[in-house]
Amino acid sequence: MKILAIETSCDETAIALVDAKGGVKQPRFKIEKNLVASQIKIHRPFGGVVPNLAKREHLKNLPILFKKLMASGYSLNPDLIAVTVGPGLEPALWTGINFAKELHKKLKIKILGVNHLEGHLYSPKLEGNKNLDFPAIALIISGGHTILLNVKNMASWKKIGETVDDAVGECYDKTARLLNLPYPGGPEIEKLAKDGDPNTIQFPRPMIHQKNYDFSFSGLKTSVLYFFRENKNEEFVKKYKLSKTPEKISKADIAASFQQAVFDVLTIKTLRAVKEIKAKSLIIGGGVAANRSLQKAFKKKIKKENLKLNLFIPSPKFCTDNAAIIAAAGYISFLKNKKMALKAQANLNL
Ligand code: KG4
Ligand code: ZN
Repeated sequence: MKILAIETSCDETAIALVDAKGGVKQPRFKIEKNLVASQIKIHRPFGGVVPNLAKREHLKNLPILFKKLMASGYSLNPDLIAVTVGPGLEPALWTGINFAKELHKKLKIKILGVNHLEGHLYSPKLEGNKNLDFPAIALIISGGHTILLNVKNMASWKKIGETVDDAVGECYDKTARLLNLPYPGGPEIEKLAKDGDPNTIQFPRPMIHQKNYDFSFSGLKTSVLYFFRENKNEEFVKKYKLSKTPEKISKADIAASFQQAVFDVLTIKTLRAVKEIKAKSLIIGGGVAANRSLQKAFKKKIKKENLKLNLFIPSPKFCTDNAAIIAAAGYISFLKNKKMALKAQANLNL
């Protein structure tokens, strides 16, 4: 089945054409085209995504990407149109939904609304046809979400935890702003941290020892803010268990120490869930999963704990927003006969 997918939930305008086969337990995907027009440069001067600018850019970019798809020689005969209906920025979501509805009318093709978060969940299935063994734990870490799922099979899962405040990507972006780094902050912090020592500052690891699978990241960002503001006296050195004198601490040390706190929380809580349900696979998806240092932290901890676990992390272009992941989620929805209202649902969850 050929699926034309459209994604406009945030600051990437994306259209993809994906060939999908197989049943709900073992779907197979062949990506024919995956086009993304990034708006990062437009939003960068504002330090974050401006919803109405995003809408304007989606309106401009959707027809351009669609023309590009046609020009690449694909006869447009998809069997299904899949479009993101949420979660995301409402004005941005509507542009994709309206565009998809028009195509649906013009081409007389079936249309399905898709939950963007399901796209991140299914993203590792887009590459290769490796079998995912179940049960699995899935960690979705993006700009708007931090969610832990107990996945029974490709079509059935249960949320076991999520952030009670900021998402981990949001925490990266806000902390980057404190460090005077441009938007989006995730890749910038990762780059800067390479020159720093992650053991310089002991930032808090919120909720790390709580038995539940929820997360909290707003306190970590605040702690970085206080770190700049506080008097650099003896108490300060003790509080953060500094490994060097305050004058010697660089921005790179702060970035590396910040990342270490994030990695500790994510790896410890996720692997605790893995052990509890005796998971055979771990899926990590969403923009923050593109972080190579985070991937290394997971691999190291899995090895250290001697866990027999298949780790599935998509390559960076399938971690961040794109429409191929929406096609994958659309296909599973189609197989499950799951229908969603074709209207923007900004706060949709899993
Ligand atoms: O999944 P995504 O593209 O969009 C949402 O659905 O939110 O995720 C975007 C988020 C941003 O917060 C961005 O800073 C973060 O993912 N991100 C990263 C990296 N690349 C993107 N965070 C940490 N390290 C990265 N390399
Ligand atoms: Zn996303």
